Amino acid sequence: MEKEKIDHIISKFPETKGNLIGILHEIQNEFRYLPEEELRYLSREIEVPMTQIYSIANFYNRFSLTPTGEHELCVCLGTACHVKGGQNVLNQVKKDLKINEEETTEDMKFTLKVVRCLGACSLAPAVMMDDETHSNMTPDLVKELIKSF
Ligand code: FES
Repeated sequence: MEKEKIDHIISKFPETKGNLIGILHEIQNEFRYLPEEELRYLSREIEVPMTQIYSIANFYNRFSLTPTGEHELCVCLGTACHVKGGQNVLNQVKKDLKINEEETTEDMKFTLKVVRCLGACSLAPAVMMDDETHSNMTPDLVKELIKSF
């Protein structure tokens, strides 16, 4: 268990209870998921029940309770992206990475997620690799994108 890392994250927030989402973001960034043992330690340290932590962790798509890959690839299947071929893009990603939605490749390099809108509807279909949005995607373009990592 990495108490020091959690202590360091907590120390960045003068007020912890009102900043639980921010603290969880930092933990997610540090570990690439929310490890149970560290969450239990956090719960004790800031005196917030685990049920409250889990309800936030489960509500936001951004948080993961299982280990995630080095890169997160989100494929959008919102209406605009779906209409313009988002499903074909998703099928290509599944084929290339040999994983399904919410899964991580064996080498822990990629985690695949499906989202309902990336805010780039006019440039659909869109995907997001880590923090960067890629628009007007096709199966060939997403294949190249994956290769570039
Ligand atoms: S529906 Fe895909 S970006 Fe909005």
